[in-house]
Amino acid sequence: MRIAVYPGSFDPITNGHLDIIERALKVFDKVIVAILINPTKKGLFSAEERVELIKKVTKDLDNVEVESFEGLLVDFLEKKETNIIIKGLRAVSDFEYEFQMALMNNKLNSNVETVFMMTSAEYSFLSSSSVKQVAFFDGSVEGLIPSMIIGDLKEKVRKVKEAEQDGSK
Ligand code: PNS
Repeated sequence: MRIAVYPGSFDPITNGHLDIIERALKVFDKVIVAILINPTKKGLFSAEERVELIKKVTKDLDNVEVESFEGLLVDFLEKKETNIIIKGLRAVSDFEYEFQMALMNNKLNSNVETVFMMTSAEYSFLSSSSVKQVAFFDGSVEGLIPSMIIGDLKEKVRKVKEAEQDGSK
């Protein structure tokens, strides 16, 4: 069975990420979406919340698992008994960073292969950080993230703004 790990921050998952998951399922038997728990970078959603959001949007897809991980990606791969990383490439600007990570992972474990998939053109401009900015300034995120999590994003942004206001009182 060919298992691929699709790692990332997914804060939150976008339609671009979902597109990569769906396309990876055409090539691999199982895709494990792996959310990095990064203690030094506080995200909008907690790792547990991101897991739940991704589970929600992939519930109708067979052969997708969602997990969080800490530490090195190559160690997570070993735990999952696979050597394949899936990454999405949006534009040339992604290349340098992704190339560096792929080489580093291969250096850490020479068995590890990174497979790049091209993001569909319609999502090539999309990133979690731009989605968050749009949401914070009350723009429409319709078509940017799966519609079933738009409510979750709006609610989270509302809570964060509320907390900020309380803090400045
Ligand atoms: O969505 P992102 O933030 O571009 O994802 C980055 C991620 C999670 C794939 C990357 O930071 C990662 O693999 N971190 C785990 C630590 C690690 O293995 N580092 C060595 C490779 S550079």
